Amino acid sequence: MIKMTAQELRQKYLTFFKKKGHTIISSASLVPENDPTTLFTTAGMHPLVPYIMGEKHPGGKQVANVQKCVRTTDINEVGDATHHTFFEMMGNWSFGSYFKKEAIEMSFEFLTSKEFLGLDKSRLAVSVFAGDEDAPFDKESFEKWKELGISEKRIARLPKENNWWGLAGKTGPCGPDTEMFYWVGDANKVPESFADDNDLWVEIWNDVFMQYEKTKDKKFIPLAQQNVDTGMGLERVLAVINGLDDNYKTELFSDLISKIEDFSDKKYDKSKEITSSMRIIVDHIKAAVMIMGDNRGIAPSNTDQGYIVRQLIRRSIIRGHKLKIDKEEWVTELAENIIEIYRKVYNELDKNRDFILTEIKKEEVKFTKTANKGLKVFEKAISANRNDLDMTQNKNDYNWDSKKLTGKLIFDLVTTHGFPKELIKEEAENRKIIIPKNEWNKFDELFKKHQELSRTASAGKFKGGLADNGEETVRLHTVAHLMLAALKKVLGGDVHQKGSNITAERLRFDFSYGEKLTDEQKKEVEKLVNEIIEKKVPVEIDEMTLDEAKEKGAEGVFENKYGEKVKVYTIGDFSKEICGGPHVKNTGELGKFKIKKEQSSGAGVRRIKAVVE
Ligand code: ALA
Repeated sequence: MIKMTAQELRQKYLTFFKKKGHTIISSASLVPENDPTTLFTTAGMHPLVPYIMGEKHPGGKQVANVQKCVRTTDINEVGDATHHTFFEMMGNWSFGSYFKKEAIEMSFEFLTSKEFLGLDKSRLAVSVFAGDEDAPFDKESFEKWKELGISEKRIARLPKENNWWGLAGKTGPCGPDTEMFYWVGDANKVPESFADDNDLWVEIWNDVFMQYEKTKDKKFIPLAQQNVDTGMGLERVLAVINGLDDNYKTELFSDLISKIEDFSDKKYDKSKEITSSMRIIVDHIKAAVMIMGDNRGIAPSNTDQGYIVRQLIRRSIIRGHKLKIDKEEWVTELAENIIEIYRKVYNELDKNRDFILTEIKKEEVKFTKTANKGLKVFEKAISANRNDLDMTQNKNDYNWDSKKLTGKLIFDLVTTHGFPKELIKEEAENRKIIIPKNEWNKFDELFKKHQELSRTASAGKFKGGLADNGEETVRLHTVAHLMLAALKKVLGGDVHQKGSNITAERLRFDFSYGEKLTDEQKKEVEKLVNEIIEKKVPVEIDEMTLDEAKEKGAEGVFENKYGEKVKVYTIGDFSKEICGGPHVKNTGELGKFKIKKEQSSGAGVRRIKAVVE
């Protein structure tokens, strides 16, 4: 029996925090604007970093939302009962308003109060930061939990590795956190003490106290304001409150798993391998659908977010192959089901439905073809001299013909034919062919070299970042506004921003326009932008509702469900855009603007690379 649906849970969370004086804000895009250091929004706080650092949020000092997140770092853990690449994170924030005591009290109330989740207090445990040379033991959180009735044995004191949070590998805001765990094992056998290596204690919420900034030289400096950032994984909590020991048994996955059972004619619980393959498929296709459906027009490709989408789809097809699914276009069918599950919560999926399904189908058809072609090359190689191959299963007697399935051939299959290593392994196993270890080693060696080369080629792309290069990126961010306004003046009002990516060195900007720009058009855009820069025009901020912003003719692509206020940046009578900021105070700070390159970036989308000198 379902005790609570996903939508009821989302609503309960938002209702609770609204009651506690929070402004409810929409989920930001899965693809971060203006942050070249990362491909996806990985946590609810990610789009909120500027406000933790002191920018004013139009919703005030207390906000809450449900944020779509993608974490590719967890991709190898997907397959167990609790990990996902795409997940929803419920979160509440204080930007210099309440702090530890209030945050913990609210978390506790939401978890245990009958009106909200009504979880059993005797099955709760928590962890707090133990303290080290950078920051002291979090006594305040420890005492607060005790006061709320959590016994000392259930309050673990753990080091930075466990109880400290900041965006992975980054400089910027961070701080100690307190994590909440719920016992999902037998209710009559709740251990007296908490142990963080016992999987039956499931982490359900994390309250982070963002009170430091990590600098480039790894120092922790107190921030001007004390902030709270919390994150509660929707899928996990949904499983817990419905008494399920597997997130994939919740309504957010169960119909999708049933589909795969039908497609493959296999049962989800049959074996660990089947269970894990089915989880991987539904997780990955869901992530691909959500990324593609996110108003940024991301399609499978060989770069950036598009590359991840491509990998997610391909990995799923490989797993489908393992499960021996031989239905045509099953991935596309699954994608349709995923849109159905989420379309009422994330309306953008409806809007982008055709795009998602067309692109997924294209990738599915293409990759299936590639895989079949690879399979032929593979077959040819092994059948050239079948007698040379090991059908005896006796590894020691094995007499390998090096002209056949060599490390070099595997490398060619993978890199030239796009036939994945996993499929080669699988196909060899099916035929009881043993590929000797030294050939795999050879493959690894060749592949590593190949990867190093491509990594060097793309290294430049990941240089810099908002956190490290505040001033330069803020300048280019303002330049992006000026450039969009200039493009609209030169090319017409139908030009809109499709995406942007800023490093300290350059601005990359995608916009809707069907043709190549002429030299004259580019010169005109440069001239208009430089005129505004030379005029030293102040950059002004106003807060208003989305409707007011639209009425005033502000440019922007904000999806907005809660009638929340937005910030509008105005630069003279030249540019007016809805934007979170930050920006320079005056265009005089910008330097000389120059377009370096203009090219196509997909159908009906152009891309400009520009700099200020
Ligand atoms: N930002 C914190 C997390 O992702 C809440 O766990």
